[in-house]
Amino acid sequence: MAKILIKGGRVISPAQQLDDTCDVLIEKGKIAAIGKDLDAQGAEIIDADGKIVTPGLVDIHVHLRDPGLEYKEDIASGTLSAVTGGFTSIACMPNTNPVNDNLSVKNYILNKVKEEGHCRVFPIASISKGLQGESMTEMGELKGLGVYGVSDDGKPVSNAQLMRRAMEYAKPFGITIVTHAEDLELVGSGVMNEGPVSTELGLKGIPCVAEDAATAREIMLAEFTGAHLHVAHVSTKGSIDLVRQAKKRGVNVTCEATPHHFTLTDEAVRGYNTNAKMNPPLRSAEDREAVRKGIADGTVDAIATDHAPHHIDEKNVEFNIAMNGIVGLETALPLSLQLVEDGLIDLPKAVALLTCGPAAALGIPAGQLEEGGVADVTVIDPELEWTVDAQKLVSKSKNTPFDGWKMNGAALCTIVGGKIAYRR
Ligand code: DOR
Repeated sequence: MAKILIKGGRVISPAQQLDDTCDVLIEKGKIAAIGKDLDAQGAEIIDADGKIVTPGLVDIHVHLRDPGLEYKEDIASGTLSAVTGGFTSIACMPNTNPVNDNLSVKNYILNKVKEEGHCRVFPIASISKGLQGESMTEMGELKGLGVYGVSDDGKPVSNAQLMRRAMEYAKPFGITIVTHAEDLELVGSGVMNEGPVSTELGLKGIPCVAEDAATAREIMLAEFTGAHLHVAHVSTKGSIDLVRQAKKRGVNVTCEATPHHFTLTDEAVRGYNTNAKMNPPLRSAEDREAVRKGIADGTVDAIATDHAPHHIDEKNVEFNIAMNGIVGLETALPLSLQLVEDGLIDLPKAVALLTCGPAAALGIPAGQLEEGGVADVTVIDPELEWTVDAQKLVSKSKNTPFDGWKMNGAALCTIVGGKIAYRR
């Protein structure tokens, strides 16, 4: 395996409290050394002058759609999209066909990753069998075999008793419960955020309280059981406030925010733009501000994309029946760096939200950059200007609301286990 020397970059690894201009030497798949003026003999040199060198980025919320929905994405295309965006570790959601609720589906995913994956993949199993919300997945037998978290993402676990039991069961195994917090009765037939824009467009609204009420229940159950709760894609002021208060009380809760929720508002839906339709929906400017405040004050532990590829035929339909979700792996990094540009957070904080923050939230071994550790590294040009062209995304699906947007910042080189998995 090739020896690689990444020379003269600003090396930032928040988990190691490292922020210094130096070299990173990679040998035999490991970080051999981090330091000044390292010996380059026999190494391929990556000039990182003016660039940022970070632990490989981590995204704990990705829909790879494999098995069963490969017309939207598959393991090869999804992981290639990931490394293109700078990610070296991703967690994939279980709402595939069949659902990842058993060993054979989990093994299928991990075997396929071994054969054709471009980065590390941590499969998240479902909380309920078949995502039916009725009986619990055998999560104990899945833990330790690559599964660190469980989720019915895409749907809430509406039955509070089932959620309580899942938390009690998950706790001793150290499994993270990832909740898609949504009260379906309050959602009703809503298709976008409830507010002036939904009224103007004549679309049925989803009130914030549909998310807030569910988040409150999950937090109370986590407080009661002591399980680790991770709240996915927080989109409302109410949910952010609930997580903030719960953390102050010492509840074992973490949460993530998506680039679309901290960047866009429900104004993006105007024109009945189905590429602005997702679940939870884009919210008001006030909610977006609250999510950003949560990012700044540490309430939010992780940035996660909720990369949700859909075929054009599932989006090129009337708004009410279009599928929920957008692709996110290839635009997350510049949208996160924009938070630094906006003065909301500093660069090390942005790196933490994309590396050790998400890794700790799910409990996966990733997001570190240290001597002797695995060589998962991302070299970032924070200033590289480029324009999003949906048709040129590596993902099989092109459903992005950021088509035509000018971006600043991109991964120049993504290294997984000491091998260059992507080079711009
Ligand atoms: O927009 C979304 N799409 N939200 C979800 O929770 C699920 C996801 C999907 O699977 O398409």
